[in-house]
Amino acid sequence: MPYETLLTEFDEDTGVAVIQMNRPEALNALSEAMMNDLTSALDRCDKEDKVGCVILTGTKKAFSGGADIKEIKDKTFPESYYEDFISRNWERTARLRKPIIAAVAGYAVGGGCELALMCDIILAADNAKFGQPEVRLGVMPGAGGTQRLARAIGKSKTMELCLTGRLMDAAEAERFGLVSRVVKAEDLMDEARSLARTIASMPMAGAMMTKEAVNYAYETPLSQGIQFERRLFQSLFSTADQKEGMDAYVEKRSAHFRDK
Ligand code: HXC
Repeated sequence: MPYETLLTEFDEDTGVAVIQMNRPEALNALSEAMMNDLTSALDRCDKEDKVGCVILTGTKKAFSGGADIKEIKDKTFPESYYEDFISRNWERTARLRKPIIAAVAGYAVGGGCELALMCDIILAADNAKFGQPEVRLGVMPGAGGTQRLARAIGKSKTMELCLTGRLMDAAEAERFGLVSRVVKAEDLMDEARSLARTIASMPMAGAMMTKEAVNYAYETPLSQGIQFERRLFQSLFSTADQKEGMDAYVEKRSAHFRDK
């Protein structure tokens, strides 16, 4: 389905879906229309059995410059409260059940940084810049920035970025564990596709439960998280792919997974 603000593609052979934000003239500012399109595209990825991994990306200059300031600048508190501004269509990325990689080139700032933080893995181009400059606009991060960034890079660095609006480059982001890897800008999509293909080739139940368990680490005390992980691990012994994966290892051959 064509979207006004996104370009999408899906490769049935590999199970990789790519969602590209496509408002280059506004550095992919996250307008209401774009967040609605994104919600719809992500719904489809979760529903389509053959999708094994999603890549969310932007353009060379910007993953996203954040919420569309021109669109939201005149909002009032009652309006944003009653229309449930942010939760209504921003949290969909965080609730995606399939693994999702943010392939970030250029600016990922404000809501753009928060959107990347909602993804499971952030792969950064060497020109990537991350930050939460909302304080300079008289507001503050509103889509999880103070929470997810603090969990990702720690309190002191998060405070510094959120309180000053300074942007950090890809090398600094890698040093503080925000991104899994930095690659050359021209290689970003090849690297992201290769990573996504690998993930999509894994048994689906195991991959989705792994994602669920890692995310649980941010929501629960350790003892509950360990218990949750153990239960998911045990449940995977009910799948054909577990039998195939372990048989193939013992028989020294490649596994042929069915459930994906
Ligand atoms: C609306 C935006 C935008 C945004 C960029 N543009 N970011 N429009 N909302 N968030 C538009 C610019 O107005 C301009 O269009 C065009 O994109 C190119 O941007 P430039 O500023 O000319 O580019 P550059 O000089 O390279 O600077 C890049 C930049 C800067 C540093 C990223 O654009 C910038 O500071 N953008 C705002 C970043 C920000 O404060 N984000 C937080 C938003 S609040 P025109 O037509 O004017 O030339 C937020 C809250 C999220 O995200 C909470 C959940 C909802």
